[in-house]
Amino acid sequence: MLNIVTYPDPSLRKPCEEVTSFDEDLKALASEMARAMYKYDGIGLAAPQVGIRKRIITVDVGKGLLKLINPRILEIGGEEEEMDEGCLSLPGVFVPVRRKIGLVRFEAYDINGKPKEWKASGLLARVIQHEVDHLDGVLMIDRTHKPIEGEAKERIKALEEEYARLS
Ligand code: NI
Repeated sequence: MLNIVTYPDPSLRKPCEEVTSFDEDLKALASEMARAMYKYDGIGLAAPQVGIRKRIITVDVGKGLLKLINPRILEIGGEEEEMDEGCLSLPGVFVPVRRKIGLVRFEAYDINGKPKEWKASGLLARVIQHEVDHLDGVLMIDRTHKPIEGEAKERIKALEEEYARLS
């Protein structure tokens, strides 16, 4: 089972590389990522969260599993919504993030290297943006428009202290 990399591990801040080879290793990794995502009750997971700096994400918002390779957002538009987001790399932290979720158009390769263009709205549109952010080293705590305080702030401090203790 893959381990989840947690904040503030600096590897979460590095941009990921494009996948160039759609081989058996990629299939195995994407399956392991999906397994980890379900085990930890996530609805999305990006490869850097399991220590792999490649542009791979898995998503399941209740409409089936997507394994997306080299996802690229083409358009973000429509209505804006504020929602508390969580992240497997920031366990116990929830922060409000305002995102446009009316229509997100993105392209990605499937696990076999076949390109496809997608349209998403609602929760899927949000999760895609959250996960693609991970591939660029961006975390939801960078996206929140409100000062982080209270429980979220305490939890972030605890994660930082834990990381300092273990490293
Ligand atoms: Ni996340």
